[in-house]
Amino acid sequence: MGLRGKFNISLFGVFLIGLVLLSVFSWQIIRDNARTEVINEAQLITAEAIAVRGYTVNEIQPLLAEQSKSRFLPHTIPAFAATSTQRDFSKTFPNYSYKEAALNPTNPGHRASPEEAAIIEEFRKDLTKKTIITTRETPAGTVLSVSRPMQITNGACLSCHSVPSAAPASMIDVYGPANGFGWTLNEVIGAQIVTVPMHVALNRANSIFVTFIGGVVLIFAVVMVLLNILLHFAVIRPIRAMSDMAVKVSTGEAGDAEFVVSGKDEISSLAQSFNRLKRSLSSAMKMLET
Ligand code: HEC
Repeated sequence: MGLRGKFNISLFGVFLIGLVLLSVFSWQIIRDNARTEVINEAQLITAEAIAVRGYTVNEIQPLLAEQSKSRFLPHTIPAFAATSTQRDFSKTFPNYSYKEAALNPTNPGHRASPEEAAIIEEFRKDLTKKTIITTRETPAGTVLSVSRPMQITNGACLSCHSVPSAAPASMIDVYGPANGFGWTLNEVIGAQIVTVPMHVALNRANSIFVTFIGGVVLIFAVVMVLLNILLHFAVIRPIRAMSDMAVKVSTGEAGDAEFVVSGKDEISSLAQSFNRLKRSLSSAMKMLET
C-alpha cells in the first residue's frame, strides 16, 4: 500500500473512532440539557401554582370571608384558584397542564388517573420523597411530568376535608357530602402534577446535535483534502521523482540532470544529498573509466 493509502486509512480510522465517541458523549450532554430545560419549565409552573395558592389563602380568603358565610365561593379555595389560572395558561400553551390530582377529591374533575394514583401511592409510601419525574408518549409527542406530594400539614385544611359536618353547609350544597372528606393530618392526599411537552426541546437538541456533528465532519473533510494536497506536493511527488532518478542512475541513463532544490524541509535536504551522491558517484565512475 502506498504512503497516501496508509496515511488516509490511519487518519480516517482515528477520525471514525473519535466521531463515534464524540457523538455518544455529545448526544448524552445535549439530551440531558434538553431534559433539564423541560424540568425547569415544569418547576417554574409548579412555583407559579404555589404562588397562586398562597395569594388566594392570604389575600382573597380574608377579603371574601363575610360573603363566604352566606354563599360558598370556590374562588377562595387555593386548589380552585390554582387550577383555574393554570387552565387559562394552557389556552396560550396548549400542551402544558397542571393538575392537583387526589385519590379522594372534592371536585371529581381532580380524581387521579391510574398513572397519577401510582405516583401518589409512591409519595404515600415514602414521605421523604419530594419529586417524581416521569415521561410518557402521547399523540402530540413525548411529555414530561414533574410531581410533588400534597400533604395535609395544616390542621385548618381539615375544616373542609375531614367530615361533612365540619365543613360549611354552603360547600356541601355545591360539592355534596361524598367526596373530599376523611383526609387526616400529615396524610399525602394527592399530588401537584405539571406536564410539559418535550418535543420542542428534543427537536432543538436534535438540530444542535446534527449541526455540531455535521460541522466536525466538514472540518475533517477539509483537513483531509488539505493534508492530501500537502502530502502530494511536499512528499510523494519529490520522492517519486527521486526514485525515478535513482532508477536512471542505476541504469546509467541519468546524464547530468539534477533535482531543483527548493525550500528548507527534510525532503529538499534529501534531494540535496541525493544530488551530491549522484555527483560523487559519477566522478567515481569517471575516475574508474580513466
Ligand atoms: C373552606 C373549605 C376548604 C378549606 C379550608 C380547604 N379546602 Fe381544599 N378544597 C375545598 C374545595 C371546595 C375544593 C374543590 C375546589 C374545586 O372545585 O376546584 C378543594 C380542593 C382541594 C384540592 C384539589 C383536589 C380536590 O379535592 O378536588 C386539594 C389538593 C385541596 N383542596 C387541599 C387543601 C389543603 C392542603 C388545604 C389546607 C391548606 C385545603 N384544601 C383547605 C375546600 C377547602
